[in-house]
Amino acid sequence: MKSRLVSCFITFCFLTLTQAIWLDTNNDTTIREDCALIADGILDYYDGYNYGGTIGEFVAPYYWWEAGGAWGSLIDYTFFFENDTYVPLIKQALLYQVGDDNNYIPLNQSTTEGNDDQGFWGIAVMGAAERNFSNPDSDEISWLGLAQAVFNTMTARWDSADCNGGLRWQIFQWNSGYDYKNSVSNGCLFHLAARLARFTGNDSYVEWAERVWNWMYGAGLLTEGNEWFVYDGVKIANNCSNITKYQWTYNQGLMLAGCAYLYNYTEEEKWLNYTKNLLHSSRVFFMNKTGSMVMYEAACQPGYTCNNDQRSFKAYFSRFLGLTSVLVPETEPTINKWLVDSANGAAGSCSGGSDGHTCGLSWTNWTVGWDGLYGLGEQMSALEVMQNLMSTKRPAPYTANDGGSSKSHPASGYGTTKANAQPLSLDGGDKAGAGIITAVIGISIIGCGVWLIL
Ligand SMILES: *[C@@H]1O[C@H](CO)[C@@H](O)[C@H](O)[C@H]1NC(C)=O
Ligand SMILES: *[C@@H]1O[C@H](CO)[C@@H](O)[C@H](O)[C@H]1NC(C)=O
Ligand SMILES: *[C@@H]1O[C@H](CO)[C@@H](O)[C@H](O)[C@H]1NC(C)=O
Ligand SMILES: *[C@@H]1O[C@H](CO)[C@@H](O)[C@H](O)[C@H]1NC(C)=O
Ligand SMILES: *[C@@H]1O[C@H](CO)[C@@H](O)[C@H](O)[C@H]1NC(C)=O
Ligand SMILES: *[C@@H]1O[C@H](CO)[C@@H](O)[C@H](O)[C@H]1NC(C)=O
Ligand SMILES: *[C@@H]1O[C@H](CO)[C@@H](O)[C@H](O)[C@H]1NC(C)=O
Ligand SMILES: *[C@@H]1O[C@H](CO)[C@@H](O)[C@H](O)[C@H]1NC(C)=O
Ligand SMILES: *[C@@H]1O[C@H](CO)[C@@H](O)[C@H](O)[C@H]1NC(C)=O
Ligand SMILES: *[C@@H]1O[C@H](CO)[C@@H](O)[C@H](O)[C@H]1NC(C)=O
Ligand SMILES: *[C@@H]1O[C@H](CO)[C@@H](O)[C@H](O)[C@H]1NC(C)=O
Repeated sequence: MKSRLVSCFITFCFLTLTQAIWLDTNNDTTIREDCALIADGILDYYDGYNYGGTIGEFVAPYYWWEAGGAWGSLIDYTFFFENDTYVPLIKQALLYQVGDDNNYIPLNQSTTEGNDDQGFWGIAVMGAAERNFSNPDSDEISWLGLAQAVFNTMTARWDSADCNGGLRWQIFQWNSGYDYKNSVSNGCLFHLAARLARFTGNDSYVEWAERVWNWMYGAGLLTEGNEWFVYDGVKIANNCSNITKYQWTYNQGLMLAGCAYLYNYTEEEKWLNYTKNLLHSSRVFFMNKTGSMVMYEAACQPGYTCNNDQRSFKAYFSRFLGLTSVLVPETEPTINKWLVDSANGAAGSCSGGSDGHTCGLSWTNWTVGWDGLYGLGEQMSALEVMQNLMSTKRPAPYTANDGGSSKSHPASGYGTTKANAQPLSLDGGDKAGAGIITAVIGISIIGCGVWLIL
């Protein structure tokens, strides 16, 4: 009896010390309760409802794109747990940031926004359409129409002039990275096209998905030997011959889930094969701890170099794995094991902060608990990996024929602001504009220098 008490006490201490939130992956109630705590933690980084905060954006230093990612996470949260608490907040945020032409190129972001940034907001509203998220009040604007607007303006920027195709990273010529074609920008377009195809049943989107896939494959961004890796991107110089070979979880996930949507819609064997190949190679993002497969950001976590953006990538990867397991059911056993093991690791890391359930970056080390790191990315990643345990227990993403009520606006996105819609054949006027910005920055730097000397 005494020894039972002692061991109970030790177990209790162990649990309270290492796991401030208790997760039983077979018990939907604990999943829901944990996710509610973690979701509330996400909003610690949001002050859009306070004076001085901007609706739809998270606090500095989180970039605008990550807000698109976070609203996407919370849309799924409302759907998985049938919990409407955050619906008005999410809806207000998604609608406030649409920009003048309803295409997620708000003027405020023109100094930093790239194709990938726009793409993540596009994926959020695509998710809203597929989850039948509470529709906007106006008939002019719909979640699906916004996703179509993002797709339309992205395809208008398709750049055949360099390397025979592909999207550049940047939308605006004055931003650094304009000379780079990266997998996340092209992957967002591929992924969005695949989802639009399945939702609308319009095969034009399949053609675009194939075009993007073929270009990425041809450029060497998708394979190496027998592996199906997704590399970071490639500089345009020398016809895109110098590939930057970093691998990120979210790129693997964008392509993987895109293939799963295409297979689910077209039932063509090649997309099933690509799904399986990309899934097999995804194992590089899991650390095998005595048989337990725990997700990690392999390119930066071991060296402790993950920046704020990279700390959120596991969130999207988890979301894309969840979608894949629903759309291509034969992937479910593999993905379920990865999600269960990773969710257990993530729960073990959520023991930090003054609230006692702030989540850390590393999930592979649950005997130490929280690793001392925290932020929007850490919180979103823990939420997504845990809430995706519900993905196969709730309805599959809806389509227009089956549960989705969002209206189609296939020609949306083209407005009055020239830079938004045009392919980037910059004429003299635009170049002059970019030149003026460069000059203004130059003058400011000189001005600062003079001021410092004085
Ligand atoms: C699931 O977890 C809840 C909350 O911790 C608990 O009350 C319930 O008994 C658990 N259900 C099962 C079947 O273990
Ligand atoms: C609904 O979500 C809110 C916000 O995360 C949470 O506080 C609340 O507990 C949730 N309700 C249920 C029944 O899970
Ligand atoms: C643009 O920035 C201003 C100033 O920070 C802010 O008041 C406004 O709400 C922002 N608009 C959008 C759409 O983010
Ligand atoms: C199908 O999608 C294409 C590409 O966006 C669009 O031009 C066309 O109008 C769409 N067709 C229908 C019937 O919606
Ligand atoms: C340039 O690269 C593209 C994309 O990989 C390829 O399709 C094209 O054939 C290449 N052109 C030349 C001249 O090598
Ligand atoms: C390829 O890119 C890397 C990193 O930008 C650079 O260090 C290297 O010199 C480049 N190689 C060639 C052949 O351009
Ligand atoms: C798909 O993979 C199977 C098994 O490797 C192979 O037999 C089949 O030819 C592949 N199909 C396509 C369309 O590539
Ligand atoms: C993980 O490691 C265990 C041994 O600890 C091994 O039996 C198992 O095959 C490994 N699993 C994978 C997927 O590598
Ligand atoms: C598409 O997804 C649905 C929902 O999970 C599933 O029932 C169906 O079997 C899938 N279709 C194919 C071809 O895998
Ligand atoms: C686990 O935690 C220890 C102590 O904080 C640290 O030294 C080690 O690098 C961590 N290992 C991994 C794989 O994160
Ligand atoms: C989708 O939303 C519409 C409008 O709110 C509603 O009429 C419909 O029942 C919903 N569909 C599902 C499957 O919940």
